[in-house]
Amino acid sequence: MGSKNKLKRFRENETFNNVIQPTRDELVNQQFDLKGHWNEKVFRNDHPLVLELGCGKGEYSVALGKRFPDKNFIGIDIKGARFWRGAKTALEDGIENVAFLRAQLELIDLAFAEHEVDEIWITFPDPQIKYKRTKHRMTNMEFLQRYKKILKPEGVIHLKTDSEFMHGYTLGLLHGAGHEVLYANHNVYKQEGSPDEVTSIQTHYETIYLEKNKPITYIRFKIN
Ligand SMILES: C[S@@+](CC[C@H](N)C(=O)[O-])C[C@H]1O[C@@H](n2cnc3c(N)ncnc32)[C@H](O)[C@@H]1O
Repeated sequence: MGSKNKLKRFRENETFNNVIQPTRDELVNQQFDLKGHWNEKVFRNDHPLVLELGCGKGEYSVALGKRFPDKNFIGIDIKGARFWRGAKTALEDGIENVAFLRAQLELIDLAFAEHEVDEIWITFPDPQIKYKRTKHRMTNMEFLQRYKKILKPEGVIHLKTDSEFMHGYTLGLLHGAGHEVLYANHNVYKQEGSPDEVTSIQTHYETIYLEKNKPITYIRFKIN
């Protein structure tokens, strides 16, 4: 995408009432006033709060929002020009239970209060295969502890990925640390039993992987 197009999207994001873009300072200095008040101030209801981490264009957040009108969804990504697509679709289609947050996932526990979140989806994260990149892997121990902090005690995490490495790494880590794997499937479109919300929605990256015939994997788990 050209830089002119990106700038246009950034400017439009500023005008969208479903896009929230705190500064890093606001988050770090504990001045972000939606922390602990997302439902009350953004959605004006007390429905369960669901996050999509690294949402890209936001296909999952928008599709789940349509399917589950009694839940609230927030797609989170650092790249505003990507989630512009999801935010615009949500506005055009009048989907009021979907919003987008521009933030670094490393700061997620500064954007949400303890136990504020009911569910987390992680859709096609960069697997960060090189050992030196472990700290950026979105299911490493540090990230899981951040998720645990903001999730309700019964909160569930969904991981959908094409990366065998990411699937295996996460399963190994969950088993090793005594977390609870509720469901795992290493080829959701071939192996029976996949939940409908896993096979009926495809993200942008997923579409590319499916064209290359890559198996898509899924894990649903709880952090103890
Ligand atoms: C491979 S893309 C997947 C996008 C989308 N979920 C999909 O399946 O089409 C990974 C996304 O995660 C975002 N991302 C990666 N690391 C991040 C971080 N530390 N904080 C915020 N966003 C991040 C990237 O900007 C990118 O949009």
